[in-house]
Amino acid sequence: MDKSDNIFIMDHPLIQHKISMLRDENTGTNEFRTLVSEIAMLMGYEALRDLPVEDVEVKTPIETTMTPMISGKKMAVVPILRAGLGMVNGILELVPTAKVGHVGLYRDPETHDPHEYYCKLPSPIELRTILVVDPMLATGGSGCAALDFIKQHGGKKIKFMCIIAAPEGLKRLHEEHPDVQIYVGHLDRELNENAYICPGLGDAGDRIFGTK
Ligand code: PRP
Ligand code: URA
Repeated sequence: MDKSDNIFIMDHPLIQHKISMLRDENTGTNEFRTLVSEIAMLMGYEALRDLPVEDVEVKTPIETTMTPMISGKKMAVVPILRAGLGMVNGILELVPTAKVGHVGLYRDPETHDPHEYYCKLPSPIELRTILVVDPMLATGGSGCAALDFIKQHGGKKIKFMCIIAAPEGLKRLHEEHPDVQIYVGHLDRELNENAYICPGLGDAGDRIFGTK
């Protein structure tokens, strides 16, 4: 994994292999959904490696010992609707006790600006490690708006995880939220004139939900 500042770019071959399968236009909805969930789990394993732990007493069949377990208030996973929903189950496989919040945003097709339509977060949000998930970081508008919201609602310890990022969106998200750790499955080349990521994988929401 390549790390600079608060940006972590994945290089694990399993993640890269699965992202290549996602990109393929012949990958159908069912397989696409499965891959998104698997990639989220693999990335989540890396993104959560600094979760706080504390020693607790456990009695093994041999003796009583102090051994580490995740401490404090459990995490919150916050998908950016819709496409982020596809990543939630992969994270819940790792942390089944995590609470799930939702931030609803869509990109205006003309201006590409994000519009909010829903926000509900688990409390106490300020005590939780918050993992915001969205497969695509394109202009960064949606990601920045989601992080603004979550901070306005009291969120403090926030990580952002996307499967594919464009350099433009990654730069913007990091500049506007330098305190947030950003995990990227693959950093792509650029945005096109419609603000789609190249080579990308197309419209993540449509591919996950089978809409057009
Ligand atoms: C997609 C994607 C991100 C956003 C990224 O969502 O899931 O949320 O675009 O683009 P940005 O970085 O330029 O803001 P979209 O608005 O298409 O909504 P959907 O998930 O409901 O399809
Ligand atoms: N949203 C997507 O789903 N794909 C892109 O390439 C850009 C934004």
